[in-house]
Amino acid sequence: MNEQRTISPQVEPEEVVLDRALRPQRLDDLIGQDRVRENLRILIEAAKQREEPLEHALFYGPPGLGKTTLAHVIANEMGANIRVTSGPSIERAGDLAAILSNLRQHEVLFIDEIHRLGKAVEEILYPAMEDFALDLVIGQGPGARTVRLSLPQFTVVGATTRLALLSAPLRTRFGAIYRLDFYDQEALAKIVTRAASALHVPLESDGRDEIARRGRGTPRVALRLLRRVRDYAQVRGDGVITGKLANEALALLEIDGRGLDDLDRRVLRSIIEKFDGGPVGLDTIAASIGEASDTIMDVVEPYLLQLGFLDRTPRGRMATKLAYEHLNIAYEKLEQGTLF
Ligand SMILES: Nc1ncnc2c1ncn2[C@@H]1O[C@H](COP(=O)(O)OP(=O)(O)O)[C@@H](O)[C@H]1O
Ligand SMILES: [Mg+2]
Repeated sequence: MNEQRTISPQVEPEEVVLDRALRPQRLDDLIGQDRVRENLRILIEAAKQREEPLEHALFYGPPGLGKTTLAHVIANEMGANIRVTSGPSIERAGDLAAILSNLRQHEVLFIDEIHRLGKAVEEILYPAMEDFALDLVIGQGPGARTVRLSLPQFTVVGATTRLALLSAPLRTRFGAIYRLDFYDQEALAKIVTRAASALHVPLESDGRDEIARRGRGTPRVALRLLRRVRDYAQVRGDGVITGKLANEALALLEIDGRGLDDLDRRVLRSIIEKFDGGPVGLDTIAASIGEASDTIMDVVEPYLLQLGFLDRTPRGRMATKLAYEHLNIAYEKLEQGTLF
């Protein structure tokens, strides 16, 4: 079901090609994330002045906010080559050892979903990141010994949607850790405008704002909505994205005024209607609507928290008054509370 979600922040195949054309290449091309961008600028400039590789950097935040983009931007700014891999694709310690021993001086090793690295693999990474060393065990049993090989100086850029799942030892090996926030509407509007002009799609300001408002604070989602709206404007209109056409297209996709789609609404409705507004555990919510807990945690929850539609309490998730209002459901909790 998630593959069909228009607002799913996961990458879709058709996006890979487009991405190449639209993805910011340099720090100056980045829109929004000002704090991260300016911190990176200093980090990069300082490393270049010292002619050293960049410190290991970690980006975390919900999908679609620019973690992969930033890894490429870093490599471009450093004038360095980038190798791309991911936690789940490095199965054995030997796989990582092979990658590391093929690195060249100052290269960037981008490890996506780094929280999914196995323990044995992680242990290879510690000395590599800290001392640029690879510890190889030769032989087996009592005769086994460790040989230390030195590696070229390189930079690990890690990305994760779940900082909490990253082990403490791995976390401390990163010199710089950045949280990516949702983008404000103004930044999303700029991103949409730039993409429309790169795609030669005529976009009116009302149409642009409609897309930015419903883009969930997420560039990947806003760009995807732009493409769906473009299709609609082409078929139902004369190709120009007006406010009216954008509205119609997004309504057809069942994306509401705040960017919520069917799955978001099902999560909120489940909490409100089946669990009396909560608190209720994430796994219980997931089971009640037949979705994976991971999807809800990575994709649905962060945005609902950001909107203030959801509260995370020690006893579970709760729907807020704002959520009731958004769904047009009467909120009786406060009144009940005042009885006691
Ligand atoms: N700061 C930004 N300015 C403009 N476009 C961006 C920015 N950050 C991300 N994008 C675009 O959003 C999409 C998703 O970014 P990506 O780096 O793949 O996200 P993540 O790796 O966090 O899931 C890409 O198409 C990228 O071009
Ligand atoms: Mg990514």
